[in-house]
Amino acid sequence: MRLAVLSGKGGVGKTLLSINLSVILAQEGYKVLLVDANFSAPTVATYFKTVPNTHTLDEALAKGAANPSEMVWIHPSGVHFVTPSFNLIGLDDQTLQNIFTLLTPLFPSYDFVIFDGPAGVEKDVYYTVMNSDAAVIVTNPNYPALYNALKVNYFVQAMKKPVAGAVLNMVTGKDEVKRDEAQAIVEAPIIGEIPYDPEVKKAVNLGQPVVLYNPNAKASQAFYDVAEALLGKKLKGRKKRGGTGGSWLKKIIDWLLG
Ligand SMILES: Nc1ncnc2c1ncn2[C@@H]1O[C@H](COP(=O)(O)OP(=O)(O)OP(=O)(O)O)[C@@H](O)[C@H]1O
Ligand SMILES: [Mg+2]
Repeated sequence: MRLAVLSGKGGVGKTLLSINLSVILAQEGYKVLLVDANFSAPTVATYFKTVPNTHTLDEALAKGAANPSEMVWIHPSGVHFVTPSFNLIGLDDQTLQNIFTLLTPLFPSYDFVIFDGPAGVEKDVYYTVMNSDAAVIVTNPNYPALYNALKVNYFVQAMKKPVAGAVLNMVTGKDEVKRDEAQAIVEAPIIGEIPYDPEVKKAVNLGQPVVLYNPNAKASQAFYDVAEALLGKKLKGRKKRGGTGGSWLKKIIDWLLG
């Protein structure tokens, strides 16, 4: 399954969703490749506290794809990721085509390929959607972000690819568009609401995905909810809120149910 994480406006939380979703799926035992498809403004590596000067997409492009696995990085969480360096500029059609030609042989080795996409509906998004099975749209609960999320929804639909849903991020519950209205504007089901959470900022500063830094954080729990919504099932390894009490209770219930 190849999933494109997209948005209309920038800075809404695509990369945070891509990273945390990838880590959750890896924790579940899936093989996950996270592709930083935001080729002109890559951030995945920096969120992992890494500056990619070598083993990059553009290095592999220059070498002519001798061995595409040379550009795969492995995060301690088990997530594999691919990133451009900060030198990749001039994204013409040919370069975008070459990038995906280079990436495609990697895909069959993975259960999930998550594309952390760029904002908007330019040709980099076109190539990302072309190479995906479905898209998730990240947005914030305000009109500019929501109407541009609708635009992305129309773009993906025009490419005859399914939209799995929209994720509302940075939800504060105050002075903002509510879930039902947001869903009506975006014309896609809201499959998750991620609260605005200071734990996210702390995790970002430490170069850690928040679901690893603090699995009990409100944002982490919401990321688990999104993963469950996308998979259509409960996660086996989900860290429950409320400490060990919950897990003991679960052990007893599991024991009673055999
Ligand atoms: N739920 C949240 N709680 C607190 N801060 C958040 C949350 N979501 C995002 N942020 C903040 O917003 C910043 C931008 O998020 P992110 O990089 O994921 O956005 P993006 O959509 O990928 O941006 P771009 O369009 O530039 O790629 C994060 O570094 C973080 O500081
Ligand atoms: Mg991003």
